[in-house]
Amino acid sequence: MEEKRNLILSFESSCDETSVAVIENGCKILSNIVATQIKSHQRFGGVVPEVASRHHIEVITVCIKDALAEANVTYDDLDAVAVTYGPGLVGSLLIGVTAAKAVAFAHNLPLVPVNHMAGHIYAARYVSEIKFPALALLVSGGHTELVYMPKENEFKIIGETRDDAAGEAFDKVGRVLGIKYPAGKEIDELAHQGQDTFHFPRAMENEDNFDFSFSGLKSAFINVVHHADQVGEVLDKKDLAASFEASVVDVLAEKTLKALEKYPVKQFILAGGVAANKALRDRLDCELSKFENVEFIKAPLKLCGDNAAMIGAAGFVAYKHGERANLDLNANPSLEFEWIDE
Ligand code: KG4
Ligand code: ZN
Repeated sequence: MEEKRNLILSFESSCDETSVAVIENGCKILSNIVATQIKSHQRFGGVVPEVASRHHIEVITVCIKDALAEANVTYDDLDAVAVTYGPGLVGSLLIGVTAAKAVAFAHNLPLVPVNHMAGHIYAARYVSEIKFPALALLVSGGHTELVYMPKENEFKIIGETRDDAAGEAFDKVGRVLGIKYPAGKEIDELAHQGQDTFHFPRAMENEDNFDFSFSGLKSAFINVVHHADQVGEVLDKKDLAASFEASVVDVLAEKTLKALEKYPVKQFILAGGVAANKALRDRLDCELSKFENVEFIKAPLKLCGDNAAMIGAAGFVAYKHGERANLDLNANPSLEFEWIDE
């Protein structure tokens, strides 16, 4: 007899993407609708929370309809609803949480709460089954952290940024170079045409922990550009971008290697918006080749940014483990994984 397929309707609205997906057995995307608001936020140079929530409200019901239609399923075919409830912008999160609760209530479906960062990690599920223990480097616009997963559905932070996230640093430096938000992709492209001639600092690289800091790098970058402006010197944008990127990539790679030495794992996962960075992917490819027993899984480029497919994959695992939320589920803007007990 054919085994019944598990279908999850998943929601993601933590920042500036409204996304709804239908996922089969946690590993097959039947649909993944993503409505981005980037254009509305560009003129402000970053995401404006109030504007973001309003956009989510406008498009969420259309996204649900489109996700079901594209997957060719109805509410009756679904087994569960999964939703990002944190971390993120509270007003944005609330739109997804409220929509998911409404669907779960109206169709009598279990509601599965999902941590957005677990979602980013599970984007890798569309490349390979996750094998434990695993280590993930999560680099996004809001977070930069190393997460150790001793077994399925267990996430422990072993290190994180003490100030700016890596993506945030890309975006802030981009502003100084006159690049539109979000600047990561364009800086990445510029960097590949330049050289690391400025030798910016590599913060915390040699400290005995797995934490990061990018605000000093950002300030050093801004100082160099402002000083050049004042003396009328024209700096090469490509070299500036290459130098900035080299510093970010060096620190991320060094800390990852340290973590892999301390935590022997079967897989290493690179995920989050900044995981799309070519220099970072190439550098880690090269470094990971030295760890014969560690499989390197990169989240697919299309699923590095925020989307509901990754939430459906993480939601399926949480669903199997019996995680359920009631209709009093609230958004938790500062939701965090636990730190590891040492
Ligand atoms: O994960 P994400 O889509 O949203 C958050 O949850 O934050 O990450 C967005 C971030 C932005 O800061 C963007 O500039 C950065 O990812 N990003 C990149 C690249 N593509 C996107 N950073 C560096 N290189 C890239 N190719
Ligand atoms: Zn994200």
